[in-house]
Amino acid sequence: MSLLTQAELDAVKNDIEQATGMPNSAYNSPESLAFERDHVFTPTWAALAFTSELPQDGYVKPVDFMGLPLVIFRNQSGDIQVFHNVCSHRGMRLVQEEKAVPTMLVCPYHSWTYNLDGELKATPHIGGVNIHQTDSMDCSKHGLKAVRSHIWMDMVFINLSGDAPEFNTYAKPLTQRWEEFVGPDGFDLLRVPEDFSALDIEVKCNWKLAVENYSESYHLPYIHPGLNSYSKMEDHYNIMVEDRFSGQGSVAYTLSETAGTQLDSFPDWPLEKLSTAEYITFYPNVLLGLQADHAFAMILEPTAHDRTTERLQIYTVGEESTQESHAQCRAATLEAWREVFNEDVFVVEGMQQGRNSPAYNGGVFSPVMDNASHHFHQWVAAKYALAI
Ligand code: FES
Ligand SMILES: [Fe+2]
Repeated sequence: MSLLTQAELDAVKNDIEQATGMPNSAYNSPESLAFERDHVFTPTWAALAFTSELPQDGYVKPVDFMGLPLVIFRNQSGDIQVFHNVCSHRGMRLVQEEKAVPTMLVCPYHSWTYNLDGELKATPHIGGVNIHQTDSMDCSKHGLKAVRSHIWMDMVFINLSGDAPEFNTYAKPLTQRWEEFVGPDGFDLLRVPEDFSALDIEVKCNWKLAVENYSESYHLPYIHPGLNSYSKMEDHYNIMVEDRFSGQGSVAYTLSETAGTQLDSFPDWPLEKLSTAEYITFYPNVLLGLQADHAFAMILEPTAHDRTTERLQIYTVGEESTQESHAQCRAATLEAWREVFNEDVFVVEGMQQGRNSPAYNGGVFSPVMDNASHHFHQWVAAKYALAI
């Protein structure tokens, strides 16, 4: 049962000149969070975390994904897997907090024990005192339930339904587009220096508003006067990639430079396009930025229908730029992005407040400046329509 009617969804799917945006109930109703988890996020690939959040082999980290208890394991070989965070016995939440786990993970309730590949290895006293096995209990059938996952750009993506296309197939229109800039193995060059990464911003808005705001450069002169002083609204172009990504590009990006040092650029980046940068939402919840000399990813973690945690990680290109010699340049680059993303908080929260008005129910789009936002609305509407 969809939250919205077919007529409401058809209005979103109209051509941009006639279209309205997604209605208020997709933004201001608590039910929308679980609905979107099950019908917008579950069928596709969504980002759950950065792999750098699991800092060593033999490590576990619980993550609540839109109300769903999940846990990420990094086993002793360094492999990352995602499981439902629930014990096979009586359904106890298995992992309460992130921690190093040298070998085995023990449920805090009755001590059933799992290895870091999710296999059930011990069931103490299951057959009575000091009887640890029974004929009726086949441990191999009661391991943790795995969630399909894939690592890309240091992010852990999950496909909860298990039947989305292979990740590489899904991402191909984007990776092919960006191969022109980063070369065939370009993403392997990305590094995560510790002082260049963590930036979490809590915003009081629905996650979709963060995407919509990221999709357009229309607001640059008004919200980002600093950024707009060199990468202006008119330097941007719209990007719509099939039915899965959208955003904007700039032809006036200025390479990071502080105190005479520059961050290294992708070796294959075309020289005549050094000032091109692209800002694309990898639907549903990753905001990507690609510049010649660094990249960033922001995972949107919806925590309520009107609350989102924005989690930013910045990447350098190659080892050299991770060194102390480039620390000042990294700090300045991080600070520049911090300023831009903080400037956006005012508008995404203002749009959330506007969604409580009966005088508004989705609004209209500029047919020239809002194409990428409309593309995203159409994508969400198509997911809703499948639930009718
Ligand atoms: S619920 Fe985990 S051991 Fe009983
Ligand atoms: Fe912005």
